[in-house]
Amino acid sequence: MTAPFDTPRPRRHLLGIARLQPHEIEDLLDRSEAEIAVSRRVDKKKSVLKGRTQINLFFEASTRTQASFELAGKRLGADVMNMAVGNSSVKKGETLIDTAMTLNAMQPDILVVRHHAAGAVALLAQKVGCSVVNAGDGAHEHPTQALLDALTIRRHKGKIARMTVAICGDVLHSRVARSNILLLNALGARVRVIAPSTLLPSGIEQMGAEVFRRMEDGLEGADVVMMLRLQRERMAGAFVPSVREYFRYFGLDREKLARAKPDALVMHPGPMNRGVEIASEIADGPQSVIEEQVEMGVAVRMAVMQALLEGTGDAA
Ligand code: CP
Repeated sequence: MTAPFDTPRPRRHLLGIARLQPHEIEDLLDRSEAEIAVSRRVDKKKSVLKGRTQINLFFEASTRTQASFELAGKRLGADVMNMAVGNSSVKKGETLIDTAMTLNAMQPDILVVRHHAAGAVALLAQKVGCSVVNAGDGAHEHPTQALLDALTIRRHKGKIARMTVAICGDVLHSRVARSNILLLNALGARVRVIAPSTLLPSGIEQMGAEVFRRMEDGLEGADVVMMLRLQRERMAGAFVPSVREYFRYFGLDREKLARAKPDALVMHPGPMNRGVEIASEIADGPQSVIEEQVEMGVAVRMAVMQALLEGTGDAA
């Protein structure tokens, strides 16, 4: 088994897909595959992280990521604390670093951090003595989301290499898109992005994505259709004329999906805006693997945390 991640033991972090080698990604996917069965058992508890402390520190809202990290930690036997940032001293003006240092003084083994600022999690990782997992930093990266997406694709298609994956919608504000473009390229997929010009970051082609501005063109022959949430909370100006217009041109409906391969997977990281980027009948339809993505999230996070703490103390 290879040792993934970017710093020598005993303190390793998962800060982004950009820092992983293809074989490290494959290794994490293999480890995740092995964890799926644990969550499907009646007794879902392992003891591999017994005695370890995991703190989830979410400065931004989350349902899927926070819940799955919590479940993953508990299923591995760790003591898990969800820091209620809304009731913490952050409200009194305490900085990110001071909050992190305070928690660090309580000797956690792993900090799972989501923050609205790109780079904030990497900064925090330099200051603490435990492993850090990036659970989403601004529009930068969301590595465990890309891993769970890849696991979902691989389980359905048997491989990632040479799959045509169309990532559609608000690419500009999306850490999910960035992490997925990096991961899918690393594993040899053909990546397309489809968005209006206002929602395309400059230089996206250099990341290894073919750019389309019409869904009808970009979805042609796709194996996977990955929809992105329209992140209205991150939009300062008018990026789209109206939600109705956006759905008409960029919302995934039956007609647009028909351009993709008949067995194309429909994915969405959640939370979904039904009727904005995706029609309800597609989100709930036979090609949708959106709920399966959520299930894979627990397995991936179990695998990541075990890999990070492997060989440290008596967790192995
Ligand atoms: N996909 C994702 O990050 O969802 P949450 O914001 O609910 O965690």
